[in-house]
Amino acid sequence: MKLRTTLAVVALVTLYSTGALAVGDAVKGKAYFATCGACHGAAAEGMEALNAPKLAGQESWYIVRQLQNFKKGIRGANPLDTYGLQMAPMSQLLADDQAMEDVAAFIKTLAK
Ligand code: HEC
Repeated sequence: MKLRTTLAVVALVTLYSTGALAVGDAVKGKAYFATCGACHGAAAEGMEALNAPKLAGQESWYIVRQLQNFKKGIRGANPLDTYGLQMAPMSQLLADDQAMEDVAAFIKTLAK
């Protein structure tokens, strides 16, 4: 029993430190989103003219993963990926995973 508890605590701490359980702060996220809204729309409704997709209604975990991918150069790094190349530098505005969680938390507050 004691070992199981210890293992559970270790697992939780590991998850937390890897960011898997990070909690986003929507208030901070709102400030970050000011720039994003220029392309994605103030309510994250998307803007086809700028090829910027709707973000409202998307799962936070997916938004964070895409932002990480853009930042790491997994997405939006190929010269043929015209629109991805426009988004990639925007991900650099978010300093770390916490900032990504924060912006995703704000997007979650917007109408789907
Ligand atoms: C200069 C315009 C522009 C700005 C500013 C911008 N984006 Fe984007 N974003 C795009 C474009 C264009 C795409 C589509 C990329 C593609 O087609 O792969 C995109 C894609 C995304 C995606 C992937 C959506 C999906 O469904 O896979 C996310 C998440 C995202 N942006 C979040 C943000 C956030 C958060 C910010 C602010 C920090 C931001 N964007 C700022 C243009 C922008």
